[in-house]
Amino acid sequence: MLDQATVLRELAFRKEKGLHKMRVIAVTSGKGGVGKTNFTVNLALALIEYGHRVLILDGDLGLANVDVACGITPRYTMEHLLSGEKTIEEIIVQGPRGLGILPGGSGVLELANLERARLVHVLSNLGRLEKLADMLLIDTGAGLNHTVLNFLKASDDIIVLTTPEPTALTDAYALLKAVKREGGTPINVVVNRVRQEAEARGTFERLETAVQKFLHGSLNLLGWVYDDPLVSRAVMQQEPLALAYPESSAYHCIQWIAGTVSGLYLQPPRQARGIRGFLGQMLRAF
Ligand SMILES: Nc1ncnc2c1ncn2[C@@H]1O[C@H](COP(=O)(O)OP(=O)(O)O)[C@@H](O)[C@H]1O
Ligand SMILES: [Mg+2]
Repeated sequence: MLDQATVLRELAFRKEKGLHKMRVIAVTSGKGGVGKTNFTVNLALALIEYGHRVLILDGDLGLANVDVACGITPRYTMEHLLSGEKTIEEIIVQGPRGLGILPGGSGVLELANLERARLVHVLSNLGRLEKLADMLLIDTGAGLNHTVLNFLKASDDIIVLTTPEPTALTDAYALLKAVKREGGTPINVVVNRVRQEAEARGTFERLETAVQKFLHGSLNLLGWVYDDPLVSRAVMQQEPLALAYPESSAYHCIQWIAGTVSGLYLQPPRQARGIRGFLGQMLRAF
């Protein structure tokens, strides 16, 4: 885990040298309800504490989660961007700590199935995102569908969230089976709702063994988050945990993970592809 001063220095250096490319990180899970939205929102807020500028794309089609978790109501969504009615700046909602939120709405489905003809418009808009943020976190929907898989393929990094429950684990495995990473980049795993470290490590090892043995893939244990009643209390209050209960054990875990994610950002295994790379990859999927 990196300290904040190191991260801030490196960020300033990159900006000065023009080495800045937005890193796209997808947060996903096999099964719904494992804590993706809470994790994404609070990870974003913890990354902001590290000095990063962060945007969340609410990519869950079914449920407009991120805005609810932050207690805000967006007026426009990606749908308005794709139809050309609104610009990217007009649809971004400001969340706490300057967190930018891109409400997906049904535009998510369109984005994941973008036609080439619309690319120029979308690119010129999304290209401006690069000036607004260092990282784009995508809260994808759960499960094995075309939209989720396209987001995963196009992202620089993937974080798969699971709980120790057997059903969550088998669904996580099924998802990992469907996602083949190029160049053997390991997929990051976060085990949520654990009672102790041993439970997190045991859960991870079960998943890792199956992935190594049957899929010949590799996983990286990014961290774990304790099962903490303050998480659901924050949900009820419609206030992110980072703000409502910054001293909770769950948020401390997420801060620790943010330190590791900062490390991924600063020492990338390869150059972040940026928003153009992301969209280019989305299009190649067809
Ligand atoms: N670490 C945790 N400890 C306790 N409860 C949690 C934790 N993470 C998530 N939850 C509970 O799980 C519920 C679902 O979380 P959510 O982020 O909406 O899941 P998803 O986006 O994966 O569907 C939350 O409302 C909260 O009550
Ligand atoms: Mg969700």
